[in-house]
Amino acid sequence: MTSIPMNNLRRRYLRHEADLLRISRDVLASGNWISGPHNAAFCREFAAATSVAYCIGVGNGSDALEIALRCVVTDPARREVVTVANAGGYTTTACRLIGLTPVYVDVVEASQLVAIDQTVAAVGPATGAVVVTHLYGGLVDVPALRAALRSAGFSGVPIIEDCAQAHGLRGCGAGAGAFGDLATFSFYPTKNLGGLGDGGAILTNDAALAAQVARLRMYGWDGKYDVVTNGGRNSRLDELQAAFLAAMLSHLEADNERRLSIIDAYRAAGTDGIEWVSSPHGNVGHLAVVLTNDRDRLAKHLNARGVATAIHFPILDCDQTGWAGAVQRIGPAGIDVSRRSVKRILSVPCFPEMSDDEIAHVCDALGSYSA
Ligand SMILES: Cc1ncc(COP(=O)(O)O)c(C=O)c1O
Repeated sequence: MTSIPMNNLRRRYLRHEADLLRISRDVLASGNWISGPHNAAFCREFAAATSVAYCIGVGNGSDALEIALRCVVTDPARREVVTVANAGGYTTTACRLIGLTPVYVDVVEASQLVAIDQTVAAVGPATGAVVVTHLYGGLVDVPALRAALRSAGFSGVPIIEDCAQAHGLRGCGAGAGAFGDLATFSFYPTKNLGGLGDGGAILTNDAALAAQVARLRMYGWDGKYDVVTNGGRNSRLDELQAAFLAAMLSHLEADNERRLSIIDAYRAAGTDGIEWVSSPHGNVGHLAVVLTNDRDRLAKHLNARGVATAIHFPILDCDQTGWAGAVQRIGPAGIDVSRRSVKRILSVPCFPEMSDDEIAHVCDALGSYSA
């Protein structure tokens, strides 16, 4: 029976095998495996590709969020972070690590992205930052959020963009990563720009913030062994990952187009009782996600035809048992849409190395579903 997985990283390896082996040999033979020329070169190239002035490599996307929050949430009277509850818990994890309080606001159903009016309504004198997640590869209109915050008298509230699912995403006059005070990226292997292990980066146009990020991800050092900032730690993008990522960067645009064409094909095929999640501002198809009323039935229908499915993400942050009892707040308008959607979302396979036959097979499976 046909079996179509959610992803297949071995295919990625085989597709780029010659390049990856050559890069591995070169980096290993150089004897320079940490903080060398590949890290510097990749950060330069990724900053340019994202149209942002500074890029600092870190160990992964979670470290990036934690360090970004440490950079901007510095006032002891402003320890709240306004964010969504449906984005996999990464921002909440970072908040928990440094004792910040997440304040959850609702999402817009059709995009599953943060509702701007509700974000502004949840911001107040205790707000230290807003974290916006470009979930599933869909762009949040950050300029509109910035303008709405300004109109409400909160122009000083920093915005962090979580771009872990949004590499190469363009729209709203620029692109993901170029709007926030800081932007965080993950290069986990399944991301639109993925390495062969963990990796991450923090981008900013602000020289002072870039310098603080560089200190915080390197023990709080200014120069060697000279600790000038509390809260520092070690978080580095190693040379092998940086060199792999530089090579993969040249495929990002074509891979994003492939992802979008897969979703377009699905969208045309699967319509009965299925709403395709997408942003009106721009998409890079990190995941192909639907909303449907009988999710279990759709999943069973697809699985029976050999199509894998997954749920991104099955539990809202505010309902995670591990955080029960930890301080949190729900924004004034509640999170009804998030609560309804978490029971209705379902992801189907979408990765650049899918074959045309596999895409056609998923289309058939979607097309034969009746709600
Ligand atoms: C939206 C989002 N933010 C943050 C992260 C954390 O990235 P990492 O797995 O590299 O720590 C992920 C990744 O898994 C993610 O999807």
